[in-house]
Amino acid sequence: MKIAVLGTGYVGLSTGVCLSQIGHHVTCIDINEQKINQLLQGISPIYEPGLEDLLTANMEAGRLHFTTSLNEALAGTEIIVVAVGTPQGDDGAADLSYLVQAAKDISAYITSDTIVVIKSTVPVGTNDFVRKMIEDQCGFPVKMVSNPEFLRQGSAIEDTMKADRIIIGSENAEAAGKIRDMYQPLNVPVILTSTRSAEMIKYASNAFLATKISYINEIANLCEAVGADVTDVAKGMGKDKRIGEAFLNAGIGYGGSCFPKDVKALLHTAGLNGVEFPLLKETIAINEYQRKLLVTKAVKRFGGLKGKKIAMLGLAFKPETDDMREAPSIPIAEELTKFEAEVVAYDPVATENARKIIGDKIKYAGSIDQAIFEADAVLIVTEWNEIKGMDVSKMVEKMKEPIIFDGRNCLPEEKIRACSSVEYYPIGKPPIII
Ligand SMILES: NC(=O)c1ccc[n+]([C@@H]2O[C@H](COP(=O)([O-])OP(=O)(O)OC[C@H]3O[C@@H](n4cnc5c(N)ncnc54)[C@H](O)[C@@H]3O)[C@@H](O)[C@H]2O)c1
Repeated sequence: MKIAVLGTGYVGLSTGVCLSQIGHHVTCIDINEQKINQLLQGISPIYEPGLEDLLTANMEAGRLHFTTSLNEALAGTEIIVVAVGTPQGDDGAADLSYLVQAAKDISAYITSDTIVVIKSTVPVGTNDFVRKMIEDQCGFPVKMVSNPEFLRQGSAIEDTMKADRIIIGSENAEAAGKIRDMYQPLNVPVILTSTRSAEMIKYASNAFLATKISYINEIANLCEAVGADVTDVAKGMGKDKRIGEAFLNAGIGYGGSCFPKDVKALLHTAGLNGVEFPLLKETIAINEYQRKLLVTKAVKRFGGLKGKKIAMLGLAFKPETDDMREAPSIPIAEELTKFEAEVVAYDPVATENARKIIGDKIKYAGSIDQAIFEADAVLIVTEWNEIKGMDVSKMVEKMKEPIIFDGRNCLPEEKIRACSSVEYYPIGKPPIII
């Protein structure tokens, strides 16, 4: 099939690459010329494992193209997949301005046979609103399909090629069937729904996962108070199939480009429709508390942080990505500097993106060793393999004081116990003090 993908961000690029990998002819369009220029040279503008190899292979096979020209990409295309950003607006609602622009852009090129697929995460009713917008401009009925995306950054390719399910929401059975055919080579279960249900499935899923994280974090805080170990508790809970093991890792809260904004957007939709949804309000409040927990603990331990050298290990919102959107490292760095600590941070790939957001109020190190040298404490913020795998007993010897606050519970207990002297504070578990 001939497919155009609008937006070459984490979702659009992964989708475009995977659709070309299963044999379709795909043209990806972006308004960002710099991104397209990089892509034309076979360079991925984002860090995503496995992406660049598939990108270059499919470009060489002649199935994957990049352009900033709508005319070049959209003329004669059968399916247009819209994957532009829908960031958080000022009032918590999703900001649909990129989507509205994309709808205007495509209405000049579509024919009555074109199917418009909205993959961006959009509030319930948006597909209807976009359809009307396009129809008003082009003057004939438009086939719309809501096809929300569930990939996780850091494993976007794997998640797309081996998705748990594909949601296809449409009031047009023929269009829904065509999109099912588009995905057929992936051999993934498909669920057909109305557009409104498809839109809601995305928000309901993300808000549920965020709530699961806040729930285990509250359990972790209670575990600390009563002397239980949240890792054991989560293991015991997760073996219950009704609960499941995923998303029960206690830590410093959820972040990233999706959960924070999607929970707030769902709450906004609820408010507009007269539904309070206090559960979601608590999910957000717990997360806000959790994001600053490492600093709260450090302040409690030292009595104040003025002049203390604090090493932050990890800046990206999670491992295997360079994405800094809503990363817990941002409020942590802000809090630490508010307490007048001297902060030195290290991340294997996200430093440049972090610098753009956090700025020069903290220093950036080129290695773990550089960051922890003569530090009064280490805060583990992102559980990169490099950080999990470090030699803890050697590390603490280079620090001024051997104090570690592990916001991801990612350092193995045996490595801590192998230290000759250490104070190790995990989340929701008893500290180890040697
Ligand atoms: N990132 C994720 O893990 C993830 C997962 C599932 C769903 N989503 C949803 O998918 C959507 C995209 O997310 P993302 O993280 O890929 O965003 P992103 O910000 O990484 O990428 C969006 C891209 O769209 C481009 N763009 C904006 N307007 C355009 C236009 N009119 N024409 C062409 N290109 C345009 C931007 O230049 C940018 O490159 C969002 O709605 C998001 O909520 C994201």
